[in-house]
Amino acid sequence: MLSVTVRTQVGIVGAGPAGLMLGQLLHLQGIDSVIVENRSRQYVVERVRAGVLEQGTVDVMREAGVGGRLAREGMRHDGIYLAFNGARHRIDMAALTGGRAITIYGQNEVVHDLIEARLETGRPLHFEVEDVSVHDLESSRPRIRFRKDGAAHQIDCDIVAGCDGYHGTCRQAIPASRLRLYERVYPFGWLGILAEAAPSSDELVYSLHANGFALFSMRSPQVTRLYLQCAPDEDVSKWSDERIWSELGTRLTTDDGWKPNEGPIVQKGVTGMRSFVAEPMRFGRLFLAGDAAHIVPPTGAKGLNLAMADVYRLAAAVATFYRSGDAALLDSYSERALARTWRAQRFSWWMTSMLHRSDSDNPFDHRRQLAELEYLVSSRAAMTSLAESYTGTPFEA
Ligand code: FAD
Ligand code: PHB
Repeated sequence: MLSVTVRTQVGIVGAGPAGLMLGQLLHLQGIDSVIVENRSRQYVVERVRAGVLEQGTVDVMREAGVGGRLAREGMRHDGIYLAFNGARHRIDMAALTGGRAITIYGQNEVVHDLIEARLETGRPLHFEVEDVSVHDLESSRPRIRFRKDGAAHQIDCDIVAGCDGYHGTCRQAIPASRLRLYERVYPFGWLGILAEAAPSSDELVYSLHANGFALFSMRSPQVTRLYLQCAPDEDVSKWSDERIWSELGTRLTTDDGWKPNEGPIVQKGVTGMRSFVAEPMRFGRLFLAGDAAHIVPPTGAKGLNLAMADVYRLAAAVATFYRSGDAALLDSYSERALARTWRAQRFSWWMTSMLHRSDSDNPFDHRRQLAELEYLVSSRAAMTSLAESYTGTPFEA
């Protein structure tokens, strides 16, 4: 079999938001990288996932030179609604946080923009590679191996960035004795749909109903994104469009008559929910970033933003290392990234437990959830706490 070896500074595994943004930030510092991704370009761009960007993520997109379309098409939201007991309550996040807001812009648009930018740099980005593995991680010359079009490839690196998501290969290459894993799996999932329907609210609506959680979100002035709490292994084929709209109507309609507009459903999918952290986010010259190191349940809208915060920090540490030979920022990367991660874990767990019903709950638990929501929407202090976490703190290098 033909064998190809190349040399780079940073080998990046995974072309999700974390890997692509890291490659772009390193490029702007004149640092060479190779990105390898096992899926196709089309699959990566069309995968429907997150939609809420913190200001920190918007700022990094701009700083990285990929904020143009986001500035034109992103939808700035100053608040969110919480709905329960038939009423919607607005939380004015911008007013509570001195002007911080979120921006709605699909993760697939973020990935699209980052791939375009990568191709413009001319630096390598390999899709549809097979059998990716990482080696010699504790040496100063770690390697990535993979196969593509029948040839065996090896990338000799100074540093490997594991940006390959929760199911990736990099975290699994770390000896179990060198990792501490923290995990909580929730007994429910989300059934998500995209519908060709104009959003009927100009801000997101998080709803707790006796039947379970529902979320109203959007992607554009023409497209609504909606989620329903379901079983973690829910069979999507059991959900006809009619049943989905009926259940969304039940869980989201408020006493003032507000409900989502209906339209053709163009995508449906189920995701399980977990909280997960791997510590530390480093093994020798391998650095983990994004979902490869941590997963949050989507209720707090933090996953993509945490991934961006990680690579912003990692890129600065790598740049300092090349500029001055100083590895102090690389050495403290894991500890600093984990501090932000645990704050987001706490918030995501709290939002999830406040807004979902569990089979093991009894009437007391549901009444307690409603009391928590009542308190939240009537206390400026409690709303400020939610707004601070939801909008996120500025990213740190
Ligand atoms: P990924 O996006 O998982 O990218 C990893 C990449 O690595 C993938 O392209 C994968 O194909 C590739 N890969 C995997 N294994 C290998 C291998 N062996 N070799 C090479 N490549 C490999 N987050 C938010 O912030 N806000 C939200 O509103 C939000 N909503 C969500 C809604 C849903 C339904 C879901 C599922 C997630 C949501 N998230 C949200 C989470 C967010 O999508 C993730 O946190 C984000 O994708 C993490 O980016 P990443 O680059 O770390 O990982
Ligand atoms: C989304 O629009 O996909 C979305 C919004 C808010 C969340 C999770 C997902 O908390």
